[in-house]
Amino acid sequence: MKINVIGCGYLGTVHAACLATLGHEVMGVDTDVAKVERLSHGDPGFFEPGLPELLAQALGSGRLSFATEPTPAEVYFLTVGTPQVTDGLAADVSFVHAAIDSILPVASLDAVVVGKSTVPVGTAAGLVDKLGGRALVWSPEFLREGFAVADTLHPDRLVYGLPDDPATACRAQNALDQVYESMLAADVPRLTMNYATAELVKMAANSFLATKISFMNTMAELCECTGGDVTLLAEALGLDARIGPLFLRAGIGFGGGCLPKDIRAVIARATELGVDDTVSFLHHVDAINQHSRDRVVDRALQLLGDEPEGKKVTVLGASFKPNSDDIRDSPALEVADRLHDQGAEVTVTDPQALFGVHRSFPHLHTESDITAALTGAELVLLLTEWQEFSHLDPQATIDLVERPQLIDGHRLLLRRNQPTPLWPPQVCSNSIGGHVQPNLPLGFRRVLEMQRTDEPQMYIDNALRL
Ligand code: UGA
Repeated sequence: MKINVIGCGYLGTVHAACLATLGHEVMGVDTDVAKVERLSHGDPGFFEPGLPELLAQALGSGRLSFATEPTPAEVYFLTVGTPQVTDGLAADVSFVHAAIDSILPVASLDAVVVGKSTVPVGTAAGLVDKLGGRALVWSPEFLREGFAVADTLHPDRLVYGLPDDPATACRAQNALDQVYESMLAADVPRLTMNYATAELVKMAANSFLATKISFMNTMAELCECTGGDVTLLAEALGLDARIGPLFLRAGIGFGGGCLPKDIRAVIARATELGVDDTVSFLHHVDAINQHSRDRVVDRALQLLGDEPEGKKVTVLGASFKPNSDDIRDSPALEVADRLHDQGAEVTVTDPQALFGVHRSFPHLHTESDITAALTGAELVLLLTEWQEFSHLDPQATIDLVERPQLIDGHRLLLRRNQPTPLWPPQVCSNSIGGHVQPNLPLGFRRVLEMQRTDEPQMYIDNALRL
């Protein structure tokens, strides 16, 4: 099919490349001339595993191109951003309106327009008149950064929010079924519903995921003051099929361009609708998330003897999550920035996100070499779950630092199934989520015992300090 994808940010670029891979003739459209130029040469401009290869393949096939203006097409996907407004909690949908304005001069009346951007409930219904008879579907996207290609090509489900008019709905559904023909043939569930339900599915999904994380972070705090181990707690909870094992990882809370702004957009919309009490729990979810970051800052200051001035602190991680260079609302960078504000000499290292740190946090010192970043540190904070950090050799790391004290913000080094989970517990004992219980596999326990005897002085030093 002939398709335009309007807005070549994260979602649009991945979506355009994937649709071309599925065999469609796709044009990615963006008003940013430099971006269009870059994409035309196969450079996404951000880090996403598998995307450069996919772009190269799709461009090479001749089925994918990029331009600054829309062209006549059968289907137009709207994939523009809906960031939080600067003066409130609501989502800014002005880019969605601008995207529609841009297609009206070229889109024929039988074209189908498919909104994928995350919008407040009620937005799609408000756009119908503007489209002057062209069919509108609202089909939210559920891809995760770091897994965007796989999530787009093999989604858990396809959601179609269809117009009320049965004939228009049928035409729109047929067009989308054609776009996703291969996925439907592979039995990807497809759910049809009205606009409001489709918009709410996305908002509900992100609100629920955020709630799960904040819930686990409250459990982490309870574990810390009661001698519990939140990793084991999550494992036990996750074995209950009604709860499930995913998104139960406690840590420094959620960040990124989606979860934080989406729960705030739900609150804003509910307030406009006069039902703000109904979603008031989301204020708590947001507050717990902020509290999770505050706790890491407080703990770091405590370990620096409440005298952070001039002390060398190394922050492992800058992106909001691993396998991404996205630093939007990154918990790791907020913590790093706050410690810098308190006078600590903060060095940030990250496998992919340092360019963004230079641009947005030019006052923070960055170091791409992990060894150099760790050398002489008085405190290390592991704040993004990159594999590069979970694979750090404990003894080599301890040898580099000035003082062996580490806050593991995600219990990455304390998880029982890590390939190198051999960190002396005292080094990490200020990590998030409570004590590590000694029900570890025998091999693990034996190595810990060896480390105790190999490094008695360090062990005693740590024991005395804690
Ligand atoms: C999120 C949703 O997971 C996607 O389904 C959705 O499509 C996307 O937002 C969107 O709205 O566009 P994403 O922002 O890429 O995807 O990241 P997640 O994998 O959801 O992680 C969000 C944050 O939660 C990260 O900071 C991560 O470290 C944190 N997290 C995740 C936890 O703290 N604990 C967990 O157990 C899982």
